[in-house]
Amino acid sequence: MSEKDLNGRALKVAFIGSECYPFVKTGGLGDVMYALPRALQRQGCEVRVIMPCYRCIPDKYKRMMQHRASFMMDLTRDGRTFFVGIMEAELDGVTYDFIENREFFDWGNPYTGLWEDIPKYCYFSKAALAALNCLDWIPDVIHCHDWQAALAPVYLRTHFAGTPVGSARSVLTIHNLRFQGICGIEHLKFWTSLPDELFNYPVFKINDGEANMFKGGLAFADRITTVSAAYADEIQTDFYGEGLNGHLWYHRQKLLGIVNGIDVEQWNSQEDKLLTAPYDGEDVLQKKPENKKALQERLGLSTEGDQFVIGLISRLTDQKGLDLIDAVFTQMLDEHTQVVILGTGDPRYENAFRYYEGEYKGRVCAYIKYDESLAHQIYAGADALLVPSLFEPCGLTQLIAMRYGTVPIVRETGGLKDTVEPYNENTGEGNGFTFDRYEAPLLLDAVRRARRVYTEDRDRWNAVVTRDMAKDVSWQRSAGLYMDLYAELAEQ
Ligand code: ADP
Ligand code: GLC
Repeated sequence: MSEKDLNGRALKVAFIGSECYPFVKTGGLGDVMYALPRALQRQGCEVRVIMPCYRCIPDKYKRMMQHRASFMMDLTRDGRTFFVGIMEAELDGVTYDFIENREFFDWGNPYTGLWEDIPKYCYFSKAALAALNCLDWIPDVIHCHDWQAALAPVYLRTHFAGTPVGSARSVLTIHNLRFQGICGIEHLKFWTSLPDELFNYPVFKINDGEANMFKGGLAFADRITTVSAAYADEIQTDFYGEGLNGHLWYHRQKLLGIVNGIDVEQWNSQEDKLLTAPYDGEDVLQKKPENKKALQERLGLSTEGDQFVIGLISRLTDQKGLDLIDAVFTQMLDEHTQVVILGTGDPRYENAFRYYEGEYKGRVCAYIKYDESLAHQIYAGADALLVPSLFEPCGLTQLIAMRYGTVPIVRETGGLKDTVEPYNENTGEGNGFTFDRYEAPLLLDAVRRARRVYTEDRDRWNAVVTRDMAKDVSWQRSAGLYMDLYAELAEQ
């Protein structure tokens, strides 16, 4: 039994969120929904993960699911009731409950557009709480993630007050404040049938008179967390606050930043079956060139000479600093530098990278897809990984890169600032190459500084590689901080 137990019994926490690896993942939220419950479980917490049963979940996982219960649930103002099915599966000791409803979750992708997504996640947040009552599994804390689950803390204190689950406390984690679930007030009133008095300025209403689901959830949650300490400060400012900075400042007493980790079993270069030459901190310097060569061959890049390979693994959106990369792309390249891009997203970036691949065949590869196996091979085969984000709540790719001995080149913002210690030219200490202001020449300078150390001072470069591999990027410490938070809430 863990020392964090409540009077001898384990803490019970229900995770509520819209995606979770390996069932559905579109970005880092999916990784966290997978890795954090496992880390908490190891620390003696009982965790259940509740997520939608999307059609796109691969059949091999659907076959693992068992029907646990079904019932009808009130939702809309017109009194219509909706079907809720609970499908259950267990993976490595964690229980997953999938909320089933064809009307909402039978689309190809989890997210389709706000018109469908607002009703879908109003339904999901309410169904998740109803499922806990139905399963008679009453958690100490419901831990909700991003705007898609933001209504759960609101329902908890309204429709579910006085029911068994109403005794739980709530935590709402901001993974990305850019997406908030904004719609007309009447639309949200219709889909939630929440009391009229909540549609005022302190809860759902925003300046332009619309309703904001995230804002309401943040007002009602007992605690708010975000995924790094730096982002917790940043979102209280105009630049990063996405219109909610005043609201977050008002609620700052309950706001806390806890940096993400990664699952070090999922990301383990020594056991990674997707790599040509698995390696650890001892033989990384011998094995990385083999992985680099395999990557170059797979992607049609030249294997001639000693190439400095820069990777980018990212959703292709303006959050990720792609405008900076575009502005200095040709200057970043030389005959000893290659760039590998893996990502999908905004067509304007997809096309820009395709163009560079066409122009610089053999030196640039733009792989415009979502591909887990190639991601692993880039983390292992590249020398450096670029993350020059405009804003970055935490960022996982720089953590995975370090774990694979790939040196991050990042902008000092959010979690990037908290996790990558800048290389010090005088002492050779540090984990990566960084720049501060969002300006393309500064990115170019950081890339050039990295390349200079790689080509002219290989011993120091190698020291950064081995230091990065030894860095603790696991969930252990941060899971402990969440345990403390849950215990504090449960004892109140
Ligand atoms: P975000 O959540 O903002 O997209 P993170 O850095 O937190 O950014 O997490 C991104 C996750 O998605 C990482 O696990 C990364 O490896 C993965 N990823 C992003 N794009 C791709 C892609 N095209 N193919 C495979 N994995 C990807
Ligand atoms: C979001 C953020 C990213 C973070 C991830 C997981 O998608 O953009 O920075 O790492 O969530 O918390």
